[in-house]
Amino acid sequence: MCGILAYSGKKSIKKILLSGLEKLSYRGYDSAGIGVLTQEKTIKIYKYAGHVQNLTKNLEKITIESPVGIGHTRWATHGEANDINAHPHLSHSGHLAIAHNGIVENYNTLKKKLISKGYTFQSNTDTEVLINLIDYIQNYQQCALKEALRFALKHVVGAYALVLLDKNNPHQLIATKKGSPLVIGIQGKEYFIASDVTPIIAHTNEVIFLKDDEIAYINHGKLQITNAKAVEKTPFIEKLDIHLEAIDKGHFPHFMLKEIFEQPQSLQNCILGRLNMLQKKLTLGGIQDHLPSLKEANRIIIIACGTSYYAGLVGAYFLEDICRIPVVVEYASEFRYRNPIIKSNDVILAISQSGETADTLAAIQLAKKHHAIILGICNVVGSSLARTTHAGIFTHAGPEIGVASTKAFTAQLMSLAMLALKLAHEKKTIAENVFQHYLLELYKIPTKIDLLLQNISPAIQLLAQKFKNSRHFIYLGRGYHFPIAMEGALKLKEIAYIHAEGYPAAEMKHGPIALIDQDMPVVCIATKDHCYDKIVANIEEIKARKGQIIAIVTEKDTHITSLTKDIISVPDTPAALMPMITIVPLQLLAYYTAIARNCNVDQPRNLAKSVTVE
Ligand code: M6R
Repeated sequence: MCGILAYSGKKSIKKILLSGLEKLSYRGYDSAGIGVLTQEKTIKIYKYAGHVQNLTKNLEKITIESPVGIGHTRWATHGEANDINAHPHLSHSGHLAIAHNGIVENYNTLKKKLISKGYTFQSNTDTEVLINLIDYIQNYQQCALKEALRFALKHVVGAYALVLLDKNNPHQLIATKKGSPLVIGIQGKEYFIASDVTPIIAHTNEVIFLKDDEIAYINHGKLQITNAKAVEKTPFIEKLDIHLEAIDKGHFPHFMLKEIFEQPQSLQNCILGRLNMLQKKLTLGGIQDHLPSLKEANRIIIIACGTSYYAGLVGAYFLEDICRIPVVVEYASEFRYRNPIIKSNDVILAISQSGETADTLAAIQLAKKHHAIILGICNVVGSSLARTTHAGIFTHAGPEIGVASTKAFTAQLMSLAMLALKLAHEKKTIAENVFQHYLLELYKIPTKIDLLLQNISPAIQLLAQKFKNSRHFIYLGRGYHFPIAMEGALKLKEIAYIHAEGYPAAEMKHGPIALIDQDMPVVCIATKDHCYDKIVANIEEIKARKGQIIAIVTEKDTHITSLTKDIISVPDTPAALMPMITIVPLQLLAYYTAIARNCNVDQPRNLAKSVTVE
């Protein structure tokens, strides 16, 4: 989604904005621009469709000296991705400029009113409406820009994060947010305002996460924050614990590959301080106080989107199996609009890597109205989800930059497995020896993935070459591997642009089998568990119809090896934990297929890292 970066300070504004926008580009975008002040006391906007490199190239020979500046990477919502619709946008008068994330839902009504007052518009964006509304109110009320902004936002329906530039106040930046994140980095008298910390951490680790409706006002190196009622607040400065290397590709060609290979470490970090093998204990500090409510829960409702939703499905199987609590898993986007039944002893579990997904946040708000207890599983400390839930588990996977989620997914699976085990142990629905066995198996997972990663890449690269021109893929799995089939298919769609569907293997007979012929690759996740014989039967059915079987099997499997040559073996582990392992070859298959098809792996077309609008 769109990214914002604004700077106030003495360093080279051009360098800071351009390098920062590069850092934000992982979020997904289709145009980029900056707005600065000139010596002649006007606002100058430079903005172009395409990559940040395009903007950088166009600015190569231009000298910019401005005490403040705003930058933006745009992911098109209103109006196509072209130079005119790119941000920042100037007001009709040319006095103000804005960089804006989010959507002004009532922009059409506001636009009509502004047109009736003589305003004209260059772009198709809701953002240009917003800056002209602020401009209009400031002129009409003859008030300070801060006040005009506050008044204007009372007329706005939607979510936003924005930063304003004012030609009459060349040392000033004004920023605010509602439902879309904004963070301020502080380095002495220098300030960085951004939609996430990635362009900030190269400069400082001291940050303030702005809250909804707060207005940040920076002028001549001083920061003031006021709340919705215009009352000044003492800012809460946090120290970030993120290192620069975490957002660097290192020796890997892509963030996605780096993140796949980081999984042994990210899973280790996820269990660190929670799984104590010496004391044979599992502690989940974040939810400790809510364990009594969880034990008494009538039902657990998991809400999430995309990959996080698939993690939720895996988690639901394990939670139901060992805790004997009914669990339902819902797409947050459906849940929020369908008047769901939420009872007082239901527990909501929201899962999100970014913690900023608009649908998931809206579903949480809905559940809050029903007074449900809301827990979260989230990767980003300080995110909106982390702040809005009652308690939760941080996955500690580290920053995930590749648009296709990989290490965050396995950390979500690990967090859900720990939650299920902790709850089952508390409820005594699991025998002590079984619990202890699981703890040991959890502990071994990072090492098993490490060994797997050392060996499988060559075989998967060959598979990618063999199937790179296939137009469709089917992924099949049963039980814990049904969600993994869907996640594997999603990865291939996202980055290799090949149509792929994941199904529960037994459903094949109810329709998809009609698609099987010699041109159809079918990825079967067929590790040794209680459904093994069933999925072997499915593989036979595919073979009988000449489908191209790619099988993920448990090491030393001899039976499936006789049915297909395209085999990837993975280390054995209990069925409930196996998804953390079987997803790894599927992530690599998507990655190497995308590479073989010359696709942009880290920034796939049309996708955004966190979907902060509906
Ligand atoms: O940040 P979230 O986990 O809430 O994001 C949810 C989905 O947008 C996300 O998982 C998406 O499906 C990814 N691109 C998957 O790779």
